[in-house]
Amino acid sequence: MTSWYDESKEQIKENEVQVLRVDLNGLDPIGSALNTILSPDERERADGFRFAIHKQRFILTRGMLRIVLGACLKRRPGDLIFSYGEYGKPRLLRTAETPHLAFNVSHSEDLAVFALTAGTEVGVDVELLRPREDLDGLARTAFSYAEFDNYRQLTPAERPRAFYRCWTRKEAFIKAIGHGFAYPLDQFDVSMGECAALLRLNGEPNAGARWSLQNLKTPEPFVGALAIAGINFHLSEFDLLPEMCTALVEQTIAGGQPEAPVLSRTESRQDCSK
Ligand SMILES: CC(C)(COP(=O)(O)OP(=O)(O)OC[C@H]1O[C@@H](n2cnc3c(N)ncnc32)[C@H](O)[C@@H]1OP(=O)(O)O)[C@@H](O)C(=O)NCCC(=O)NCCS
Repeated sequence: MTSWYDESKEQIKENEVQVLRVDLNGLDPIGSALNTILSPDERERADGFRFAIHKQRFILTRGMLRIVLGACLKRRPGDLIFSYGEYGKPRLLRTAETPHLAFNVSHSEDLAVFALTAGTEVGVDVELLRPREDLDGLARTAFSYAEFDNYRQLTPAERPRAFYRCWTRKEAFIKAIGHGFAYPLDQFDVSMGECAALLRLNGEPNAGARWSLQNLKTPEPFVGALAIAGINFHLSEFDLLPEMCTALVEQTIAGGQPEAPVLSRTESRQDCSK
């Protein structure tokens, strides 16, 4: 079997981004197996959730992240060690066997998304698009002056999607740089139309030429965005179906390294230059 990320069995390349979507809804039967590959600190975190559903989603997401990274690196998922940045961004502890693999994770309700690349920072965000009465107030607080100005010119019907596009693009960016919400949201502007772009980054006049933002192909009613430091890359998006997750977990529990299933690879990068 060969993997989803490269049919020639090579490791993920520096100009490639792979995005894997996992519907957690079908994964309850493998929850306890995934729990066994978590590290002691991850299990402690899982036990700290107040509601069982949040605990279960954490176990499923973190467990599948380990499986996916293990398949990419040809390592046992339970052996992988994460380190955490100043603001909590998880990264793989660098060793000779884990040279450049970078990843980021987002989850919303039952959808988990993993973005994988090599040699550069990546951030991802997914959100459930739901009608909220406080959307305009949230936009006023979270958006930059220019973004809010754009938002205000939209009709009420256009606002929800524009809000979530802008929000997920902003969050993907602050996750790519690893600061999360510790980074001031008024210090940069992103687009809120169909094309994703970083329009301004305070103090970096050429930021738009250094950073790429992309829409993700999330199932309705989710909205998703990816941010990556770089402009030349290929983006492929895949669904890891429940039966694939189960097979990967069974290989892992049998004591081996998971081998990722073959999935067809299609370019999904949106070209907004035309
Ligand atoms: C990172 C952050 C934006 C995630 O927000 P969210 O909408 O709750 O969650 P998402 O589902 O999109 O992402 C969560 C995942 O992002 C990753 N993550 C955590 N901290 C991260 C960071 N600083 N940068 C990038 N990714 C991060 C983790 O994999 C996490 O998954 P886990 O909860 O299963 O461990 C948010 O938690 C944050 O801002 N953290 C920084 C903390 C901080 O310093 N805040 C200051 C308060 S102003």
